[in-house]
Amino acid sequence: MEKDLEKIRAHAKEAIRNAADLGFLEQIRVEYMGRKSALTAILRGLKDLPINARKRIGQEANHLAEEIERLLSERKRELGSVIRESILAKERLDVTMPGSRIERGHQHPVTKVLAEIEGIFGSMGFETVDGPEVETDFYNFEALNMPPGHPARDMWDTFWLKNKLLLRTHTSPVQVRYMEKHNPPIRIIVPGRVYRYEATDASHEIQFEQLEGLVVDTHISVANFKAVMQEFFSRFYGNHIEIQLRPSYFPFVEPGFEIFISCVICKGKGCSVCKQTGWLEIGGAGMVHPNVFKAVGYNPKQARGFAFGLGFSRMIMMKYKIPDVRLFNSGDLRFLKQF
Ligand code: DAH
Repeated sequence: MEKDLEKIRAHAKEAIRNAADLGFLEQIRVEYMGRKSALTAILRGLKDLPINARKRIGQEANHLAEEIERLLSERKRELGSVIRESILAKERLDVTMPGSRIERGHQHPVTKVLAEIEGIFGSMGFETVDGPEVETDFYNFEALNMPPGHPARDMWDTFWLKNKLLLRTHTSPVQVRYMEKHNPPIRIIVPGRVYRYEATDASHEIQFEQLEGLVVDTHISVANFKAVMQEFFSRFYGNHIEIQLRPSYFPFVEPGFEIFISCVICKGKGCSVCKQTGWLEIGGAGMVHPNVFKAVGYNPKQARGFAFGLGFSRMIMMKYKIPDVRLFNSGDLRFLKQF
């Protein structure tokens, strides 16, 4: 029986020393001190022993029980502090550690290029103006010399809203809005979003940017217009750009032109971007139509001016060789991060 106690002591000591966590330790307690343990069995059996043996074994068994209890609580304390330390180590805060770098955003390419354009036109005395994207039929068409039923309205595939409202198909309505409130001389640019009800592809978007311009005074000519374009495009693309005006039709101007610039990629020699022509179409323009001046209350015999509408998205695409207009509003960071 003493040997049994010795064995229990040795096993219990070993097990307690090796217990790696509090769960194990509890199992060990049950195993060695619980109701079904060998030690409990010995203590229960004491009453059947002769009196001498009962006293001796009883004492020893009680000592062993106390010893195991003590070892258990020591180990428990030890494990507790180990756990606490590991939590502390994990949660340690090094206040001297450099912070993780927060990524900085930046301007959208359209915003960036717009600032550049405003700078160039600003230095030529142009003011930047804007207007609403939800427009009325009057400003988008009627005041621009397109009364209801005018066939030229079909030049713009329109998103119609309720109550004869629409999403502006061009920035030209802002010409009218501005002239209604201001008298000549006028020199403005109007950058802004426009909308077309069209199928999208690499060069067509339902929403894109235009850059409108308007100059009104008494002696304005096509030559002035060409000079402004020449100066603007040469500065915008950073090298000499030729301007070509080809006769065209827009109801709000007479005469009307399509504006071509010498290809910014091949400089006029012919390449795939300009389809071997050496020229790129970049917008429309013309001398403001007398009916537009009438619509805003000007005397068409006195006022004279030119207006233009440039494909702003297209200009950026050519400047940075962007192959697809849909990238601008895609939200794709791989694209945006390049600017
Ligand atoms: N608004 C025209 C368009 O979106 C472009 C345009 C043509 C604007 C001639 C003008 C202009 O100011 O005079 O197609």
